[in-house]
Amino acid sequence: MSIQWFPGHMNSARKQAEEQMEFIDLVVEVLDARLPEASCNPLVDRMRQFRQRPVLKVLNKIDLADPNATAAWKAYYDALPGVTAYPMTTKKPLDVARLPALALSLAPHRGVPTKPLRIMIMGIPNVGKSTLMNALLKKRVAKVGDEPAVTKVQQKLYLDKHTVLVDTPGLMWPKIDMPSDGLMLAASHAIGTNALIEEEVAFFLGDVLLERYPQLLTARYGFKTEGLDGIGVVEQVAARRGFRARGGEFDVEKAAHVLLHDYRSGAIGRISLETPDSRARRLAVHAAEKAEKERLAAEKAAAKAEEAARGKRGT
Ligand code: G4P
Repeated sequence: MSIQWFPGHMNSARKQAEEQMEFIDLVVEVLDARLPEASCNPLVDRMRQFRQRPVLKVLNKIDLADPNATAAWKAYYDALPGVTAYPMTTKKPLDVARLPALALSLAPHRGVPTKPLRIMIMGIPNVGKSTLMNALLKKRVAKVGDEPAVTKVQQKLYLDKHTVLVDTPGLMWPKIDMPSDGLMLAASHAIGTNALIEEEVAFFLGDVLLERYPQLLTARYGFKTEGLDGIGVVEQVAARRGFRARGGEFDVEKAAHVLLHDYRSGAIGRISLETPDSRARRLAVHAAEKAEKERLAAEKAAAKAEEAARGKRGT
Protein backbone atom coordinates (compact mmCIF):
# COMPACT_ATOMS: atom_id res chain seq x y z
CA MET A 1 0.00 0.00 0.00
CA SER A 2 1.27 3.47 -0.71
CA ILE A 3 -0.01 6.61 0.96
CA GLN A 4 -1.18 9.34 -1.34
CA TRP A 5 -2.44 12.84 -0.91
CA PHE A 6 -5.62 13.49 -2.82
CA PRO A 7 -5.00 16.84 -4.44
CA GLY A 8 -8.54 18.20 -5.05
CA HIS A 9 -7.86 21.93 -4.86
CA MET A 10 -4.15 21.55 -5.50
CA ASN A 11 -4.24 22.62 -9.13
CA SER A 12 -5.50 26.09 -8.25
CA ALA A 13 -2.97 26.38 -5.40
CA ARG A 14 -0.21 25.42 -7.79
CA LYS A 15 -1.35 27.92 -10.40
CA GLN A 16 -1.52 30.67 -7.80
CA ALA A 17 2.00 29.95 -6.61
CA GLU A 18 3.34 29.79 -10.16
CA GLU A 19 1.86 33.18 -10.98
CA GLN A 20 3.05 34.74 -7.76
CA MET A 21 6.61 33.51 -8.27
CA GLU A 22 7.17 36.23 -10.87
CA PHE A 23 6.47 38.97 -8.33
CA ILE A 24 8.55 37.81 -5.38
CA ASP A 25 12.27 37.94 -4.61
CA LEU A 26 12.79 34.99 -2.31
CA VAL A 27 11.06 31.73 -1.47
CA VAL A 28 11.02 30.75 2.18
CA GLU A 29 10.29 27.05 2.02
CA VAL A 30 9.32 25.58 5.36
CA LEU A 31 10.39 21.96 5.81
CA ASP A 32 10.13 19.56 8.72
CA ALA A 33 13.69 19.18 10.03
CA ARG A 34 12.99 15.53 10.93
CA LEU A 35 12.30 14.63 7.28
CA PRO A 36 13.49 17.54 5.13
CA GLU A 37 13.47 15.86 1.73
CA ALA A 38 10.32 13.84 2.32
CA SER A 39 8.59 17.09 3.34
CA CYS A 40 10.10 19.01 0.42
CA ASN A 41 7.72 19.46 -2.49
CA PRO A 42 9.67 19.10 -5.76
CA LEU A 43 7.16 21.49 -7.38
CA VAL A 44 8.52 24.34 -5.27
CA ASP A 45 12.04 23.85 -6.58
CA ARG A 46 10.82 23.50 -10.14
CA MET A 47 8.80 26.73 -9.89
CA ARG A 48 11.53 28.78 -8.25
CA GLN A 49 14.23 27.54 -10.61
CA PHE A 50 12.06 28.46 -13.58
CA ARG A 51 11.97 32.05 -12.27
CA GLN A 52 15.51 31.83 -10.88
CA ARG A 53 14.47 32.74 -7.36
CA PRO A 54 16.73 31.88 -4.42
CA VAL A 55 15.30 29.80 -1.58
CA LEU A 56 15.74 29.86 2.15
CA LYS A 57 14.98 26.35 3.34
CA VAL A 58 13.71 26.66 6.87
CA LEU A 59 14.39 23.39 8.67
CA ASN A 60 11.64 23.87 11.22
CA LYS A 61 10.92 21.92 14.41
CA ILE A 62 14.59 21.35 15.26
CA ASP A 63 13.46 21.01 18.88
CA LEU A 64 12.12 17.58 17.80
CA ALA A 65 14.91 16.60 15.38
CA ASP A 66 18.26 14.87 15.92
CA PRO A 67 20.90 17.68 16.02
CA ASN A 68 23.48 15.59 14.12
CA ALA A 69 21.06 14.91 11.29
CA THR A 70 20.06 18.58 11.19
CA ALA A 71 23.73 19.64 10.89
CA ALA A 72 24.19 17.14 8.03
CA TRP A 73 21.11 18.53 6.25
CA LYS A 74 22.31 22.11 6.64
CA ALA A 75 25.64 21.24 5.02
CA TYR A 76 23.83 19.33 2.27
CA TYR A 77 21.48 22.21 1.37
CA ASP A 78 24.06 24.97 1.70
CA ALA A 79 26.13 23.21 -0.97
CA LEU A 80 23.29 23.48 -3.53
CA PRO A 81 23.16 26.51 -5.86
CA GLY A 82 20.66 29.20 -4.83
CA VAL A 83 19.87 27.36 -1.59
CA THR A 84 20.50 28.40 2.01
CA ALA A 85 19.31 26.32 4.96
CA TYR A 86 18.15 27.77 8.25
CA PRO A 87 17.56 25.28 11.05
CA MET A 88 15.14 26.77 13.59
CA THR A 89 12.13 26.29 15.76
CA THR A 90 9.15 28.61 15.94
CA LYS A 91 9.20 27.88 19.68
CA LYS A 92 12.26 30.12 20.07
CA PRO A 93 11.52 33.82 19.48
CA LEU A 94 15.20 34.48 18.78
CA ASP A 95 15.24 31.94 15.94
CA VAL A 96 12.22 33.66 14.42
CA ALA A 97 13.68 37.14 14.95
CA ARG A 98 16.83 36.22 12.99
CA LEU A 99 14.96 35.16 9.88
CA PRO A 100 14.18 38.55 8.24
CA ALA A 101 17.83 39.70 8.21
CA LEU A 102 18.92 36.35 6.82
CA ALA A 103 16.23 36.59 4.15
CA LEU A 104 17.37 40.07 3.17
CA SER A 105 20.98 38.92 2.87
CA LEU A 106 19.81 36.54 0.12
CA ALA A 107 18.21 39.34 -1.94
CA PRO A 108 20.36 42.37 -1.02
CA HIS A 109 19.07 44.47 -3.94
CA ARG A 110 15.70 44.73 -2.14
CA GLY A 111 14.68 45.82 1.35
CA VAL A 112 14.08 49.55 0.97
CA PRO A 113 10.60 51.10 1.22
CA THR A 114 10.42 51.66 -2.55
CA LYS A 115 11.57 48.11 -3.19
CA PRO A 116 10.47 45.97 -0.28
CA LEU A 117 11.73 42.42 -0.03
CA ARG A 118 8.92 40.19 -1.25
CA ILE A 119 8.95 36.79 0.39
CA MET A 120 6.70 33.88 -0.47
CA ILE A 121 6.29 31.33 2.31
CA MET A 122 5.72 27.86 0.90
CA GLY A 123 5.58 24.33 2.19
CA ILE A 124 3.37 21.30 2.59
CA PRO A 125 0.68 21.28 5.29
CA ASN A 126 1.65 21.02 8.96
CA VAL A 127 5.32 22.02 8.68
CA GLY A 128 4.64 25.21 10.66
CA LYS A 129 4.02 27.91 8.04
CA SER A 130 1.17 29.60 9.93
CA THR A 131 3.00 29.40 13.24
CA LEU A 132 6.03 30.99 11.60
CA MET A 133 3.97 33.76 10.02
CA ASN A 134 2.19 34.50 13.28
CA ALA A 135 5.51 34.62 15.11
CA LEU A 136 7.07 36.90 12.48
CA LEU A 137 4.09 39.24 12.46
CA LYS A 138 3.57 38.92 16.23
CA LYS A 139 -0.17 38.41 15.66
CA ARG A 140 -2.52 35.69 14.57
CA VAL A 141 -3.28 35.69 10.89
CA ALA A 142 -6.04 33.60 9.40
CA LYS A 143 -4.78 30.38 7.94
CA VAL A 144 -4.68 30.15 4.16
CA GLY A 145 -6.72 27.08 3.35
CA ASP A 146 -5.10 23.67 3.22
CA GLU A 147 -8.55 22.16 3.02
CA PRO A 148 -10.84 22.60 0.02
CA ALA A 149 -13.52 24.22 2.18
CA VAL A 150 -11.25 26.95 3.54
CA THR A 151 -10.89 30.23 1.63
CA LYS A 152 -7.94 30.09 -0.69
CA VAL A 153 -7.22 33.78 -0.95
CA GLN A 154 -3.54 34.56 -0.90
CA GLN A 155 -2.56 36.96 1.85
CA LYS A 156 -0.01 39.74 1.61
CA LEU A 157 1.25 41.03 4.91
CA TYR A 158 3.77 43.73 5.71
CA LEU A 159 6.32 42.53 8.20
CA ASP A 160 7.78 46.03 8.28
CA LYS A 161 8.33 48.82 5.78
CA HIS A 162 10.94 46.75 3.98
CA THR A 163 9.45 43.29 3.89
CA VAL A 164 6.23 41.79 2.52
CA LEU A 165 5.14 38.23 3.19
CA VAL A 166 2.97 36.25 0.81
CA ASP A 167 1.45 33.08 2.17
CA THR A 168 0.30 30.19 0.00
CA PRO A 169 -1.91 27.23 0.80
CA GLY A 170 0.01 24.12 1.81
CA LEU A 171 1.17 22.74 -1.49
CA MET A 172 1.32 18.99 -1.91
CA TRP A 173 2.57 17.33 -5.05
CA PRO A 174 0.13 15.27 -7.12
CA LYS A 175 1.83 11.93 -6.53
CA ILE A 176 4.22 10.86 -3.81
CA ASP A 177 6.84 8.89 -5.69
CA MET A 178 8.57 6.99 -2.90
CA PRO A 179 6.26 5.02 -0.60
CA SER A 180 8.61 5.67 2.34
CA ASP A 181 8.01 9.42 1.91
CA GLY A 182 4.27 8.85 2.35
CA LEU A 183 4.96 6.85 5.50
CA MET A 184 7.32 9.51 6.91
CA LEU A 185 4.78 12.24 6.18
CA ALA A 186 2.01 10.24 7.82
CA ALA A 187 4.20 9.47 10.86
CA SER A 188 4.84 13.20 11.23
CA HIS A 189 1.17 14.11 10.79
CA ALA A 190 1.49 15.93 7.46
CA ILE A 191 -1.03 13.48 6.00
CA GLY A 192 -4.08 12.28 7.86
CA THR A 193 -4.54 8.53 8.19
CA ASN A 194 -7.16 6.06 9.28
CA ALA A 195 -6.60 3.40 11.94
CA LEU A 196 -5.56 0.72 9.46
CA ILE A 197 -2.93 2.88 7.83
CA GLU A 198 -1.85 4.13 11.25
CA GLU A 199 -0.70 0.60 12.11
CA GLU A 200 1.37 0.35 8.94
CA VAL A 201 2.85 3.78 9.64
CA ALA A 202 3.72 2.73 13.19
CA PHE A 203 5.42 -0.47 11.91
CA PHE A 204 7.47 1.67 9.53
CA LEU A 205 8.35 4.08 12.34
CA GLY A 206 9.31 1.09 14.51
CA ASP A 207 11.72 -0.07 11.79
CA VAL A 208 13.31 3.39 11.49
CA LEU A 209 13.65 3.71 15.26
CA LEU A 210 15.21 0.25 15.50
CA GLU A 211 17.74 1.13 12.86
CA ARG A 212 18.63 4.61 14.07
CA TYR A 213 17.59 5.05 17.71
CA PRO A 214 17.27 1.63 19.45
CA GLN A 215 18.58 3.08 22.72
CA LEU A 216 15.78 5.67 22.80
CA LEU A 217 13.19 2.90 22.41
CA THR A 218 14.69 1.00 25.33
CA ALA A 219 14.86 4.14 27.46
CA ARG A 220 11.24 5.06 26.75
CA TYR A 221 9.53 1.67 26.94
CA GLY A 222 11.99 -0.59 28.74
CA PHE A 223 12.27 -3.43 26.21
CA LYS A 224 15.37 -4.84 24.53
CA THR A 225 15.42 -4.28 20.79
CA GLU A 226 17.59 -7.21 19.62
CA GLY A 227 15.83 -9.45 17.10
CA LEU A 228 12.80 -7.18 16.76
CA ASP A 229 11.30 -5.73 13.60
CA GLY A 230 8.87 -2.81 13.29
CA ILE A 231 5.84 -4.97 14.12
CA GLY A 232 7.73 -6.37 17.11
CA VAL A 233 8.37 -2.84 18.37
CA VAL A 234 4.64 -2.02 18.32
CA GLU A 235 3.85 -5.35 20.03
CA GLN A 236 6.43 -4.63 22.71
CA VAL A 237 4.88 -1.21 23.32
CA ALA A 238 1.55 -3.01 23.76
CA ALA A 239 3.13 -5.57 26.10
CA ARG A 240 4.90 -2.99 28.24
CA ARG A 241 1.87 -0.73 28.49
CA GLY A 242 -0.55 -3.62 29.10
CA PHE A 243 -2.59 -2.95 25.97
CA ARG A 244 -4.62 -6.12 25.40
CA ALA A 245 -7.62 -6.64 23.16
CA ARG A 246 -10.66 -8.78 24.12
CA GLY A 247 -9.17 -12.14 23.22
CA GLY A 248 -6.03 -11.41 25.21
CA GLU A 249 -3.84 -10.66 22.20
CA PHE A 250 -1.91 -7.39 21.92
CA ASP A 251 -3.96 -4.31 21.14
CA VAL A 252 -1.78 -3.29 18.22
CA GLU A 253 -4.06 -0.45 17.19
CA LYS A 254 -3.71 1.28 20.55
CA ALA A 255 0.04 0.65 20.74
CA ALA A 256 0.50 2.03 17.21
CA HIS A 257 -1.35 5.16 18.22
CA VAL A 258 0.78 5.61 21.34
CA LEU A 259 4.07 5.07 19.48
CA LEU A 260 3.11 7.66 16.85
CA HIS A 261 1.91 10.11 19.47
CA ASP A 262 5.15 9.71 21.46
CA TYR A 263 7.24 10.30 18.33
CA ARG A 264 5.22 13.37 17.28
CA SER A 265 5.37 14.98 20.71
CA GLY A 266 9.09 14.31 21.10
CA ALA A 267 8.50 12.01 24.11
CA ILE A 268 10.80 9.33 22.67
CA GLY A 269 13.57 11.86 22.10
CA ARG A 270 14.94 14.00 19.31
CA ILE A 271 14.49 11.92 16.21
CA SER A 272 15.14 12.46 12.51
CA LEU A 273 13.60 9.99 10.09
CA GLU A 274 16.19 10.62 7.38
CA THR A 275 19.69 11.98 6.80
CA PRO A 276 21.30 12.92 3.48
CA ASP A 277 23.02 9.49 3.47
CA SER A 278 19.93 7.46 4.31
CA ARG A 279 18.00 9.46 1.70
CA ALA A 280 20.60 8.68 -0.97
CA ARG A 281 20.38 4.96 -0.10
CA ARG A 282 16.58 4.95 -0.24
CA LEU A 283 16.62 6.77 -3.59
CA ALA A 284 19.06 4.23 -5.05
CA VAL A 285 16.91 1.29 -3.91
CA HIS A 286 13.77 2.99 -5.18
CA ALA A 287 15.34 3.69 -8.59
CA ALA A 288 16.46 0.05 -8.90
CA GLU A 289 12.98 -1.21 -7.95
CA LYS A 290 11.35 1.15 -10.41
CA ALA A 291 13.68 0.06 -13.23
CA GLU A 292 12.94 -3.61 -12.45
CA LYS A 293 9.17 -2.94 -12.47
CA GLU A 294 9.48 -1.18 -15.82
CA ARG A 295 11.57 -4.03 -17.22
CA LEU A 296 8.97 -6.60 -16.13
CA ALA A 297 6.12 -4.48 -17.55
CA ALA A 298 7.96 -4.16 -20.89
CA GLU A 299 8.56 -7.94 -20.94
CA LYS A 300 4.88 -8.58 -20.24
CA ALA A 301 3.80 -6.14 -22.96
CA ALA A 302 6.17 -7.75 -25.46
CA ALA A 303 4.87 -11.25 -24.61
CA LYS A 304 1.29 -10.03 -25.03
CA ALA A 305 2.07 -8.45 -28.39
CA GLU A 306 3.80 -11.63 -29.50
CA GLU A 307 0.79 -13.70 -28.46
CA ALA A 308 -1.59 -11.36 -30.32
CA ALA A 309 0.57 -11.54 -33.45
CA ARG A 310 0.65 -15.34 -33.23
CA GLY A 311 -3.15 -15.35 -32.87
CA LYS A 312 -3.47 -13.30 -36.04
CA ARG A 313 -1.12 -15.60 -37.96
CA GLY A 314 -3.03 -18.57 -36.60
CA THR A 315 0.15 -20.30 -35.38
P1 G4P B 1 1.07 24.79 8.58
O1 G4P B 1 0.63 26.21 8.59
O2 G4P B 1 2.30 24.58 7.78
O3 G4P B 1 -0.01 23.82 8.18
O4 G4P B 1 1.50 24.39 10.06
P2 G4P B 1 1.05 25.03 11.45
O5 G4P B 1 1.68 26.36 11.64
O6 G4P B 1 -0.43 24.93 11.58
O7 G4P B 1 1.78 24.03 12.45
C1 G4P B 1 1.48 22.63 12.49
C2 G4P B 1 1.82 22.08 13.85
O8 G4P B 1 3.24 22.18 14.08
C3 G4P B 1 1.19 22.85 15.02
O9 G4P B 1 0.90 21.92 16.06
C4 G4P B 1 2.31 23.75 15.50
O10 G4P B 1 2.16 24.13 16.84
C5 G4P B 1 3.49 22.83 15.32
N1 G4P B 1 4.78 23.54 15.21
C6 G4P B 1 5.10 24.57 14.40
N2 G4P B 1 6.39 24.93 14.56
C7 G4P B 1 6.91 24.07 15.48
C8 G4P B 1 8.22 23.91 16.05
O11 G4P B 1 9.19 24.61 15.76
N3 G4P B 1 8.34 22.90 16.95
C9 G4P B 1 7.32 22.08 17.32
N4 G4P B 1 7.55 21.13 18.22
N5 G4P B 1 6.07 22.21 16.79
C10 G4P B 1 5.89 23.19 15.89
P3 G4P B 1 -0.53 21.35 16.34
O12 G4P B 1 -1.58 22.35 15.97
O13 G4P B 1 -0.52 20.79 17.69
O14 G4P B 1 -0.65 20.21 15.28
P4 G4P B 1 -0.12 18.71 15.38
O15 G4P B 1 1.38 18.77 15.62
O16 G4P B 1 -0.86 18.06 16.49
O17 G4P B 1 -0.44 18.15 14.05
